[in-house]
Amino acid sequence: MHEQVQHYYGQVLRGTADLQTDACCTAAAPPAWVREAIANVQPEVQARYYGCGLVVPQRLEGMHILDLGCGAGRDCYVLSQLVGPRGSVTGVDMTAEQLEVAQRHRAWHADRFGYANVAFHHGYIEQLEQLNLPEAGFDIIVSNCVINLVADKAAVLREAWRLLKPGGELYFSDVYSDRRLPAALAADPVLHGECLGGALYWNDFLTLARAVGFADPRLVEDRPLTIGNETLAAKVGNARFHSATCRLFKLEGLEPACEDYGQAVRYRGTLPHHPDRFVLDKHHRIETGRLFPVCGNTWRMLHDTRFAAHFDFFGDGDIHYGLFPGCGASLPFDGDNEAATGCC
Ligand SMILES: C[S@@+](CC[C@H](N)C(=O)[O-])C[C@H]1O[C@@H](n2cnc3c(N)ncnc32)[C@H](O)[C@@H]1O
Repeated sequence: MHEQVQHYYGQVLRGTADLQTDACCTAAAPPAWVREAIANVQPEVQARYYGCGLVVPQRLEGMHILDLGCGAGRDCYVLSQLVGPRGSVTGVDMTAEQLEVAQRHRAWHADRFGYANVAFHHGYIEQLEQLNLPEAGFDIIVSNCVINLVADKAAVLREAWRLLKPGGELYFSDVYSDRRLPAALAADPVLHGECLGGALYWNDFLTLARAVGFADPRLVEDRPLTIGNETLAAKVGNARFHSATCRLFKLEGLEPACEDYGQAVRYRGTLPHHPDRFVLDKHHRIETGRLFPVCGNTWRMLHDTRFAAHFDFFGDGDIHYGLFPGCGASLPFDGDNEAATGCC
């Protein structure tokens, strides 16, 4: 499996234009301030970008970031500018040709940015213990269109949990399918190389993330993928694929469901580039200045992380009011029986 993927990204693909589907492409235009950072990245590095989403969470200044499957380093060099000289970015990839491009342009970027804060390592992201990276040493781990390519996905998530600081997050984009794929599809070298064959069924991903300790995975954004190549489309049949950006917080004790403790937050609008709202995920677009009721888990994702200073917090969480309304879950009991005459 490793050799097949290394061959695809090292020998077969020479640039974004060689891709046969839009799985390893980022569709939506990033915001202007990210576009500016991308424009500062060396052209050869940009040409070998194969990501499927935008892995740029909020509040990056001074952060220490690890990029799993960094490829030729585009995201590393974008993030290098956003974390600034007090932060750092470490990229890991197993394909020598990709890393060679990333390494060759380190000095070019250091010159342009005025500081050097990027390092690259050759290795497997499911065996990060071999690289001597600092345990609980990273504020944020990103990954862009890589985990689908790895056979042992649980090991990648376990390593991410080990290397994140408490309160840190794995913020990553990847490809997911709407069903478990037949073995023949998963083994097809082109489908696999194009980030489709190894895609996890979305519900299996949620189960896996929770089993590793990331108890409340959050979906930030997603888009359906199209397969322009007729032969590949015929092979996948009815299976559908999405690119999705998720955030998984390393917070011990998150609950399995959204529970209501009568709490609320108010975003101060103080994060650079995010004056109007803070988007935690698809269901939490928190407008500046507005009181926003939250479940216990969301409270902790804002209160016990690098975001705390940018919010006001209301409620002490002492009283539990049941399941948080509107989160998709409900109790199985029949409707409100207050008016009914009951036994016992
Ligand atoms: C679709 S490309 C994405 C590269 C980069 N993240 C980007 O956005 O341009 C996938 C990358 O993952 C790397 N990769 C796949 N499996 C890996 C593994 N087990 N360990 C390390 N790198 C891996 C490949 O070498 C390739 O560079």
